Amino acid sequence: MDLTTTYLGLKLRTPLVCSASPLSQQLDNIKRMEDAGASAVVLYSLFEEQLLRDRLDVEESLERGTSSFAESLSYFPEPEEFNLEPQEYLAHVERAKRSVGIPVIASLNACSSGGWTKYARDIEVAGADAIELNIYNIPADAKQTAADIEGKYLQIVRDVSAEVKIPVAVKLSPFFTNFANFAARLDEAGADGLVLFNRFYQPDIDLETLEITPNIVPSSPSALRLPLRWIALLFGHTDASLAATSGVYSGADVLKLLLAGADATMLCAVLLRDGIRQIRTIERDLAAWMEKCKFESVGQLKGSLSQINCANPSAFERAQYMRALTGYRQASAGPP
Ligand SMILES: Cc1cc2nc3c(=O)[nH]c(=O)nc-3n(C[C@H](O)[C@H](O)[C@H](O)COP(=O)(O)O)c2cc1C
Repeated sequence: MDLTTTYLGLKLRTPLVCSASPLSQQLDNIKRMEDAGASAVVLYSLFEEQLLRDRLDVEESLERGTSSFAESLSYFPEPEEFNLEPQEYLAHVERAKRSVGIPVIASLNACSSGGWTKYARDIEVAGADAIELNIYNIPADAKQTAADIEGKYLQIVRDVSAEVKIPVAVKLSPFFTNFANFAARLDEAGADGLVLFNRFYQPDIDLETLEITPNIVPSSPSALRLPLRWIALLFGHTDASLAATSGVYSGADVLKLLLAGADATMLCAVLLRDGIRQIRTIERDLAAWMEKCKFESVGQLKGSLSQINCANPSAFERAQYMRALTGYRQASAGPP
């Protein structure tokens, strides 16, 4: 059974990659990921804000992004609250590379371009096999147009790609007017891969303290449907590798994403919930299904139910939406 796949030009033993999470802060966990069968690991992110030269720069750039919510600046973490400072992050990349044989992908998390992008080169020198660039912008300024925002994203991708020879993947939210068009322009700007999709963490309101609280709600397995659709639509239309993140919990989830056209499937919430050893179970279930259905390789599966290959290409478009709504039948025992 050939489970190998190529992601960002890297030959991986299987499509099972550990997504960025706090687990990768400990070297021991990275080794356990490799032992459990992970084919690559994406480290937790280093934030653009950590890389800006001095405090003044940080405040200026924050104020630009949130001018109408000046008070929200107080919610931003102080530099000492971040996990590791930049130099320590580089040392962590070096140590991870020395400790495991699987590719180590460093993660930069950004919302604007600037001098910090030069740091990508230090990450390459530290030995990372690739960079995952998580671009996470919350457009709160009504004067900014969609074109302005997309232009900023493209500039960040161009700037980071120009710094390094290692591949650069871009992790994004799904909230773009025409994602297919934007994906093509990211590809042109230098993205070697697209990681679909960033989870957009929404704030909540604490009714006890009457404060806005940031908290993380783990994804549900149904979150998988969004990357599934977009990977199926993009497969065969882009040179960039396609990775799925959000709601990947089981071997069945991985299979669906491979059939849609994913090159890599990323695991985060499942590892936080069930432990790193779960990678082994997911791989076993993946291989068992392939054997049962007489697939010999991941390559054979990949994209076979993408839009360009499936018998009903409209299944990913409006026609299917209408069919889903009109075909809905209420369960007989349910409320009226
Ligand atoms: C606690 C936690 C920390 C995370 N930290 C990062 C991070 O540092 N950088 C990043 O790009 N994504 C980060 N993510 C997002 C995950 O890598 C992943 O894309 C997202 O959780 C969706 O996948 P899932 O449904 O498997 O959780 C984090 C997610 C969680 C739950």
